[in-house]
Amino acid sequence: MIAKLCMITLGCSFAQALNNGLALTPIMGWMSWERYSCNFDCLNDPDNCISEGLYKKMADLLVSEGYKDAGYQYLHIDVCWPVEKRDSNGKLVADPARFPSGIQAIAKYVHSKGLKLGIYADFSYETCPGYPGSEYYMDMDAKTFAEWEIDSLRYNGCDSKPKEMPYVYPLMSRALNMTGRSIVYICQWPGYYGGVGVKPDYAALREACNQWRNYHEIQNSWESVGDVIDHYGNDKGNFSQFAGPGGWNDPDVLVVGDYGLSYYQQKAQFGMWALFASPLMMSLDLRSVDPAAKQLLLNKNIIAINQDPLGNQAVRLFKVSTFITVWIKKLARKGAFAIGVLNRGSQGTPYKTSLSDLGLRNKHGYQLWEAFENKTIGSFSLTKEFVVNIEPTSIYIIIAIPK
Ligand SMILES: *[C@@H]1O[C@H](CO)[C@@H](O)[C@H](O)[C@H]1NC(C)=O
Ligand SMILES: *[C@@H]1O[C@H](CO)[C@@H](O)[C@H](O)[C@H]1NC(C)=O
Ligand SMILES: *[C@@H]1O[C@H](CO)[C@@H](O)[C@H](O)[C@H]1NC(C)=O
Repeated sequence: MIAKLCMITLGCSFAQALNNGLALTPIMGWMSWERYSCNFDCLNDPDNCISEGLYKKMADLLVSEGYKDAGYQYLHIDVCWPVEKRDSNGKLVADPARFPSGIQAIAKYVHSKGLKLGIYADFSYETCPGYPGSEYYMDMDAKTFAEWEIDSLRYNGCDSKPKEMPYVYPLMSRALNMTGRSIVYICQWPGYYGGVGVKPDYAALREACNQWRNYHEIQNSWESVGDVIDHYGNDKGNFSQFAGPGGWNDPDVLVVGDYGLSYYQQKAQFGMWALFASPLMMSLDLRSVDPAAKQLLLNKNIIAINQDPLGNQAVRLFKVSTFITVWIKKLARKGAFAIGVLNRGSQGTPYKTSLSDLGLRNKHGYQLWEAFENKTIGSFSLTKEFVVNIEPTSIYIIIAIPK
């Protein structure tokens, strides 16, 4: 615990970030994959199929429902957008039945609303569902995306060997740079390393990519969310130290507002992703968001923790019990911290603690706030005990500001 705190309070020596001036705080937006995957049945399911209509509708709602103003700016097209063959010049082509106006027209539409457009490609011969990959076409694809005025690229590595990734991912990074257009570069690179015995080189990741998914694809369940949280808590290779302005660990999308989590579990995911300084990508139907989920997604205080300019990624300080863990994220404001108490268990449990127990050191004590409601808790000396009541499978986040 002390070692970790020293590490946090002293800060860490960063590897250099990708030099494109982007993602200085974690990007926020909407992505189709988790919610809509590859639904291309526009005949029978026109409202939900992967098509320009779906993306334009989501762009409209990002603006009209207040998400854009809260920071959700990137709209991401996922894998099932092209046709199965490149054109005679070797260029990728959007499916004319589902994207009759073309990708550039969507980019223009999205830009006219003050949003940004992201797209998806894959460095191997084929993408996961069998569309053309970028192998042999990397420069051309980068140029095509720049021509279309794309703002962000999610680059996958289906159908390829994890061993190749450290060589190939930086090539696309360079190809994007050569286009002269600033494009957020999202890598899926260490996400493929689970169980293959390859150790991710986080310094190299940070130099090549603006964010990198470092674990399995998230599923719409509490178990899956907990699994990701454990991975972050274990922090193997100290990957938390490599998060910061310009480059972020990506635990995959928010499943808030979908079907798998209770309200309090959604609160826990949102709170943890904020503490992790994770990209906040939603993947839900913006036409019918449950009001409680929407309120979470638009919570200014929690978003402010996520977007804190220091860009520190929370680490797990300790486990209180099998179910209760305590997390800490250093904030840009001098001496201030966000402290998360996560209860993974199904019983509400009062947890009695003090600031010195939580490793805080300011001898004059701290002013404490509950973060979700922005409610004052009070002024506390280091040794004064207080009780945190956490609902079952939920989170409590405290902001501590030194006095
Ligand atoms: C390309 O890389 C150079 C050198 O790192 C950097 O100065 C420049 O801003 C980059 N350009 C883009 C478009 O990312
Ligand atoms: C991670 O950091 C701890 C100190 O906080 C250090 O003891 C350990 O060697 C580091 N591990 C790696 C793989 O760098
Ligand atoms: C939270 O409350 C404090 C003190 O009342 C206030 O200064 C701050 O602006 C509030 N934050 C938000 C996001 O409303």
